[in-house]
Amino acid sequence: MPPEILHTTSFLEDAVALIVGEAEAAIRGRGVFRIALSGGNTPRPVYRELAGKALDWARWEVTFGDERCVPPDSDQSNFRMAKEALFDDVPIPAGNILRMRGEAVPAEAAADYDAELRRRAAGETYRHDLILLGMGDDGHTASLFPGTDALGVTDRLVVANYVPKFSTHRITFTYPLLNAARHVCFLVSSPGKEAILEQVLSGKSSYPCASVRPTGGTVTWLLGGGA
Ligand code: 6PG
Repeated sequence: MPPEILHTTSFLEDAVALIVGEAEAAIRGRGVFRIALSGGNTPRPVYRELAGKALDWARWEVTFGDERCVPPDSDQSNFRMAKEALFDDVPIPAGNILRMRGEAVPAEAAADYDAELRRRAAGETYRHDLILLGMGDDGHTASLFPGTDALGVTDRLVVANYVPKFSTHRITFTYPLLNAARHVCFLVSSPGKEAILEQVLSGKSSYPCASVRPTGGTVTWLLGGGA
């Protein structure tokens, strides 16, 4: 199924409405809402807006599409960003927030996370109801950067990925996990990505984000703020 491309002048409201709609449908249908949060800057105001909603938060199960290899209190931590923008203001049970241990040895943290997802999915591939993703200006998504080893992983859900451009490891979802989702939503609102976005949406590029094609799910590109 081709991706749904939505240009919006009300990015925050539309992003929140999409997430709320998916949460209500998942909880109604399966009693739990499995969402993966994206890192970076774009989603922060979306999480803040979401924090003001009266939702069935106890039924949310939250994962992270990737994490920097830093402690959870680092200003680079995706967990810290989500904690300050969302978790500190809503009653998601602590046991339902699956933090990637950026402070640990990357390969161990990735293996532990992979095992935890498999445990929660009773040995099957964990299936998110919604995965939020961003797109970098090099076409990366999560921490699947161009030319990195994680792009070729087919037998694990989460790996440690060395990223030469930053001379550091990241912990990231792999395509098997991303492409098991029911719905993936790319949130792009910062200017300066138009050219790469056009190539990705043309379906003819080999950028990492172009390979996010859930086999039994859908993809939405929510484009705002000049994107
Ligand atoms: C991260 C994100 C990363 C991000 C893109 C876009 O850890 O930084 O997972 O993939 O989504 O780099 O970032 P912006 O939203 O800041 O443009």
